Amino acid sequence: MSIWYLISVFFHIVFGAFWIGGMLFLPLVILPELKQHPDRIAILYKTGLKFRFYGWITLLGLLFTGLLNLYWRGMPFTWVFFSQSDYGRLVSWKALIFLGILLVSETHDFLFGRKALAELQSSDNANFKLLARWSGRVNLLLALVMAFLGVVLSRGGVLF
Ligand code: HEM
Repeated sequence: MSIWYLISVFFHIVFGAFWIGGMLFLPLVILPELKQHPDRIAILYKTGLKFRFYGWITLLGLLFTGLLNLYWRGMPFTWVFFSQSDYGRLVSWKALIFLGILLVSETHDFLFGRKALAELQSSDNANFKLLARWSGRVNLLLALVMAFLGVVLSRGGVLF
C-alpha cells in the first residue's frame, strides 16, 4: 500500500471532519450563544463569511483527495468501471451527491444566507431564515451520506 494513498485518505478524512464539524458547530454552539447578543447580526455575518471561505476550500480538498484516493488505489477511470462495478457505482453516487452538495451550498451561501441576514436586520418575515436553515440541514444530511458511502468504499465498496 502506497504511503501517498494513506496520506490522501488521511487528508480526505480530515477535510470531511472539518466540513461536517463546521456545519454542526454553527447551529449547536454559536447560534444558541448568540441569541441575546447585541452584536448578533454582525457576528453571524463575519463567522458566516469565514466559514464560507474555508468551506469552499474544504469542498475542493474533498474532491481533490477523493480523486487521488481512486488514483492511488489503482482504480481505472473508465465508463465501464464507474457504471458496472460495485465500487465504481458507489463512487458515481458519491460524485452525484457531491454535485448536489455544491448546488445546495451555492444557494445556501450566496442566496438564502445573505437574504436571511437582511431579513434579520429589517425584522421582516423569516422566509429566507427558514430556507437557510433547511438548506443547511439538507447539506449536513448529504455530507453524512457521503461519509457513510466513503466508509463502505474503504471496506471494498459492497453495500448489500
Ligand atoms: C462532502 C464530501 C465528502 C465527504 C464528507 C467524504 C467522506 C469520506 C469518508 C469519511 C471516507 C472514509 C474513509 C475511510 O473509512 O477510510 C471517504 C472515502 C472515500 N471517498 Fe469521500 N467524501 C466526500 C467526497 C468525495 C468525493 C467528491 C470523492 C470522489 C470524487 C470521494 C471519493 C472517496 C473514495 C474513493 C473513498 C475511498 C478511499 C479508500 O480507498 O479507502 N469522496 N470519503
